[in-house]
Amino acid sequence: MRSHYCGQLNAASIGQQVRVAGWVHRRRDHGGVIFIDLRDREGLLQVVFDPDRPDIFRMAERLRGEFVVSVGGSLRRRPEGTVNPRLPSGEVELLADDLTVLNASETPPFHHDEAVNEELRLRYRYLDLRREEMTARLRLRHRVTRAMRGFLDEAGFIDIETPMLTRTTPEGARDYIVPSRTHPGQFFALPQSPQIFKQLLMMSGFDRYYQIARCFRDEDLRADRQPEFTQLDIETSFMDQGEIMALMERLVRTLFREVLGETLPDPFPVMTYGDAVSRFGIDRPDLRIPLELVEVADLMAGVEFKVFAGPAADPAGRVAALRVPGGARLSRKEIDDYTALVGQHGAKGLAYIKVNDRAQGAAGLQSPILKFLPPQTVEDLLSRLALEDGDLVFFGADRATIVNESLGALRVRLGHDLGLLRTGWHPLWVVDFPMFEWDPKEKRWAALHHPFTAPVTTDPDALESDPGTALSRAYDMVLNGTEIGGGSLRIHDAAMQAAVFRILGIGPEEAQSKFGFLLRALAYGAPPHGGIAFGLDRLVMLMAGAHSIRDVIAFPKTQTASCPLTEAPGPVSELQLRETGIRLREPARPR
Ligand code: AMO
Ligand code: AMP
Repeated sequence: MRSHYCGQLNAASIGQQVRVAGWVHRRRDHGGVIFIDLRDREGLLQVVFDPDRPDIFRMAERLRGEFVVSVGGSLRRRPEGTVNPRLPSGEVELLADDLTVLNASETPPFHHDEAVNEELRLRYRYLDLRREEMTARLRLRHRVTRAMRGFLDEAGFIDIETPMLTRTTPEGARDYIVPSRTHPGQFFALPQSPQIFKQLLMMSGFDRYYQIARCFRDEDLRADRQPEFTQLDIETSFMDQGEIMALMERLVRTLFREVLGETLPDPFPVMTYGDAVSRFGIDRPDLRIPLELVEVADLMAGVEFKVFAGPAADPAGRVAALRVPGGARLSRKEIDDYTALVGQHGAKGLAYIKVNDRAQGAAGLQSPILKFLPPQTVEDLLSRLALEDGDLVFFGADRATIVNESLGALRVRLGHDLGLLRTGWHPLWVVDFPMFEWDPKEKRWAALHHPFTAPVTTDPDALESDPGTALSRAYDMVLNGTEIGGGSLRIHDAAMQAAVFRILGIGPEEAQSKFGFLLRALAYGAPPHGGIAFGLDRLVMLMAGAHSIRDVIAFPKTQTASCPLTEAPGPVSELQLRETGIRLREPARPR
C-alpha cells in the first residue's frame, strides 16, 4: 500500500514513482489545482491533483480533513518560490496519478493546531496523539526506554516481571484494591512499586534486576503524579551506596547523551538532606535558581518584634531570609501576591526590606518591619546577606516546616517570575535523609522513604531508643527541581526489619500477616542489597520539555483519576458484585 513514508521523501527521490498513505492534514484549492498535505507518522508531504486527470481530481474534491488515503504518483521538485524550508519534504511534491480513499472521517472535534482543553484532548486521545508534538514525545519516550534497556543489559542486569495482583507494598500512598472472586471477602492490592519482590529476587541470587514497571498509588494528583505510572525499577546485591550511586548516574548520563546529545556533570553533586532543606527549603532543590535561604534566627533572638523573636527562640522554629537581587523594583501588588503564595503554605505574613540606597543607612531602606528592629540588627542583616542597592530581602518566621515550605515555594516562583533560571541540566543527589518523620496527626513515626530502607546504624536497639535522630541510607536523584529517582540500601537483617516495623507502629501480628513472607525470607540468607527506582514519566517529561507527565503518557488519567476516553472507572454488574461477595454501602453514583 505504500513505498515511502510522507515525511521521509525529499529531493533524493525526485523523478521516482512513489506511493504514500496517510491522513489528509489540510486541503487547499488553488485555481483549478487541489493541494493536499498528506500526513503520516514521519511528517507531511504535499500532494498535487491536476484537473488534467478529471477522474481522480473529482475524488480529490471530496477529500476532507482526516480522510485516510493512499496516493501514487511521481515525485517532482516544487516550482520556484513554493519551496517550504520548514518541512523536510518542503522541496518536493507528489503529482498524483492514482488515489484510493481508504476511509472517510467525520469532522474532528478539534484541529491539530487548535488550543483545546485537556479534557477534550483526553476524550479524543487517539486524535490528540496524531499531533506532531505528541507523536514526538512518545517516540522520545521509546528512545529513552530503549537506551535504558541497552545500558542495563550491558551492565549485566536481568529484566524480570513481578506480580500486579499482590499484597500491599507500602510506599506511603493508598492502595488500589481488587476483589477476589475465588476468595470472597479477600482483596489483592495493586503494587505501589515492585519493592518487596525485587528484594526477594536479590535473596534468590539474581544479583542485578531491572524492570520497567507499572506502579499504582491512590494519592492526591498533581502535574507530576499519576495514579498509575511507570518506574525504571532497579535492585542490586553486594554493592555499597557509593557504587550504586555511581552506576545510576552513569545510566542517566548515558540516557542524556544518547537520546538528547546532552552532557551532564560527572560526578553529580551530592548534598545532604539537612543542607538542602536549610538552603532551599526543600529536599529537591532546583539548582537552576540562584537564590538561597539564609538563617537569621541568631540576629532576631532578642528583638522586640515578637513575630521574629518567638520562632527565633523556639527549637522547632526558624527565621530565614531570602535575598532577591534587583527585587527592590517589585511593586506593592507583586509583594501582596507573594504574600498570598506563602500564605497557601501556612505563613502568616511576608516581611521584607527593600534596599534603595544603602549608603543612606535606615533612610535608604523601605520596610514595614524597620520600626521593630534595632539599627544594629538591621546593619548585621545587611552585611550577612551582602545586600546591595536595588535588592529586596523577604523573611519567614514560624515553625521551621512552614518557613521551609513557604520560602522554598517563594524561591521557585521568584526564580521563574524574575527570569533568574539558569539554562541547562542541574542534577544532584540528596543523601542522609532522616529515617523517620513524626506524623503529628496520627501521632506516630512514618518512614521517610519506605519501611525496608536501612538505617545508618546497624544496631536495632540504638535505632529504637532514638528514632528521631536516625539517618537512613537513602538517596534521591533530583533534576531541575524534580525528584526523578529514589532508592536506598535495604535492611537485610530480620531483627532490624522487626525493629523498624515496631517503630512504625506495625505490631508483630500485623507485621507477620502483611510482611511475614519477607521476614521469613530474610532468615534464609539475604545478601546485602540496595537499589533505586526512577520515575520514567517524570524523566521523559523533563527531557521532552513538557509541563505535565500526562503529556508523555499515551493514555493518562485526569486530576480526579479518571479516564475521559474509556470513562473508567465505571460501574460493574450486580452479578460481578455478587460473585466477588460485595454489597455496596451506597448505590453507585453516575459521574
Ligand atoms: P519512590 O516512592 O521514591 O520509591 O518512587 C520512585 C520514583 O517514582 C516517581 N514517582 C511517581 N511518578 C509519577 N506519579 C507518581 N504518583 C509517582 N510516585 C513516585 C518519582 C520517584 O522518585 N520502591 C522505591 C524505590 C526504591 O527504593 O528502590 C520507590 O518506589 O520520580
Ligand atoms: P504585623 O506586625 O503582623 O503587621 O507584621 C508586620 C510585617 O511582618 C508584615 O509585613 C507581615 O507581612 C510580616 N509578617 C507577619 N508574620 C510574619 C511571619 N510569620 N513571617 C514573616 N513575616 C511576617
